[in-house]
Amino acid sequence: MASIGVVLPGPAAFDAWRDQARRMLAAEVPPEKVEWRVAGEAAGLFSGSAAGLFGGAPPPASKAPPVAVPRAFPALAEVAIRHRDPERFALLYQVLWRLTHGSHGLLEDHADPNVNRLEAMAKSVRRDAHKMHAFLRFRCIQAEGGPHYLAWFEPDHHILHAEADFFVRRFASLRWSIITPEASAHWNGTALTFGPGGSRHDVPREDAVEELWRTYYASIFNPARLKPAAMRAEMPKKYWRNMPETRDIARLIAEAPARAAEMVARGATPPALRRQRDVHLTPPPGVPKAMDLLAPSDPTAALAALRAEVLADHTLAWAAQSTQAVFGEGPIGARLLFVGEQPGDEEDIAGRPFVGPAGRLFNRALEEVGIPRAETYVTNAVKHFKYTPTGRRRIHQSPDAGDIAHYRPFLRREIEIVGPKLVVSLGASALRALTGKAVAVGKARGQVLALPDGPPVFPTIHPSYLLRLPDAAAKAAEYQRFLADLRAAAAAARA
Ligand code: URA
Repeated sequence: MASIGVVLPGPAAFDAWRDQARRMLAAEVPPEKVEWRVAGEAAGLFSGSAAGLFGGAPPPASKAPPVAVPRAFPALAEVAIRHRDPERFALLYQVLWRLTHGSHGLLEDHADPNVNRLEAMAKSVRRDAHKMHAFLRFRCIQAEGGPHYLAWFEPDHHILHAEADFFVRRFASLRWSIITPEASAHWNGTALTFGPGGSRHDVPREDAVEELWRTYYASIFNPARLKPAAMRAEMPKKYWRNMPETRDIARLIAEAPARAAEMVARGATPPALRRQRDVHLTPPPGVPKAMDLLAPSDPTAALAALRAEVLADHTLAWAAQSTQAVFGEGPIGARLLFVGEQPGDEEDIAGRPFVGPAGRLFNRALEEVGIPRAETYVTNAVKHFKYTPTGRRRIHQSPDAGDIAHYRPFLRREIEIVGPKLVVSLGASALRALTGKAVAVGKARGQVLALPDGPPVFPTIHPSYLLRLPDAAAKAAEYQRFLADLRAAAAAARA
């Protein structure tokens, strides 16, 4: 039998490979008689072939029935086919052939060279995908129609098409492009498309979020656990140039011995204790936190240290699914400090409080009553976005009493450093965080509550309450009440 050539439409075209493999099996074409190619890839005699069949033998029947294979095979094959090894298609067909020619249990034999190689390929592909999720960094550019986020990434394997969905789910409300050397993926907020590859120079090297990554990395870098070899293995150097924070690695490593010695001298927080929820409520005596070591006379440094501590806090398991912690923003010494509930979808991505729909309503209300937002400090009771993933959307989940209690010491310290005349709580979670107990907003609204250990609190509703009101007349009336509350709060802060 002469060899049969198969041209696949793409480097990881699993469906096409499966269809062609079924046809070969139906015609009993043995593995050594099939040559696999990718359309457009330079491959000697057949370079430039379009998808389909080539070669000397008559093409087997175009429709072939599905074949019975263990369920694990398609799952393994779908991942392994993304490997860059040019032999992958042939290896897959070889294993398929053996599965259907007397070795149905082949996949259980992990020592078999074919199986072993296929599993190693799939593992390498999964690892590549993990690196892409962890090390891809978007840069923001101003494009027609608003901000567009661009990322450059060099995967080891053909994973872009398969992994693009992960980024759609994660950044569904943004417009973004991921450029790789062989292909690009583009999301416009509603549709995902793929295009040709590009170059690193298509993506700017710096933008405003760069500083955030650098602060974040510096804050989670633990000098006492310095293992440069393990670091390099986990974060290979090829990703470094895309990652702003890696610019600080050499300095952080150089400073590590001195910082570790300093940590020992002052007694670092034991990790086991750090995981306990109540540690943040009542820090054990003699366990100073970085922020406590800073002179109170330097509120800017104290706020930066607190921010770093919040960004590095991984105590609550659910917080790991958020993009980042969202810290407060505004000038130290602001007379008015607003506390919301928790960042929403847009805040989670932007890393700033109140920039989504509730934030836009809040800004409008502030403007109407003549309070410049830039002169206020705005933060949240809970610093991470808590949500339920549902398809491509992330549905807001209210924080529970434990979540609010966990972040309370951070909030109190934040308020202490900013030093406002009045704190305005927006909604029930904020009020709970400030008073330490459940208080009905409807009852406390519009009053100035004196607290034993901080500035007075002025409760009002959360702007998202207005967004949820279905009745236009009720919405307009409630909005006016909200404006009245803001005016009263501004007057109280002046008094
Ligand atoms: N809702 C909040 O409570 N805070 C934000 O930052 C955004 C929405």
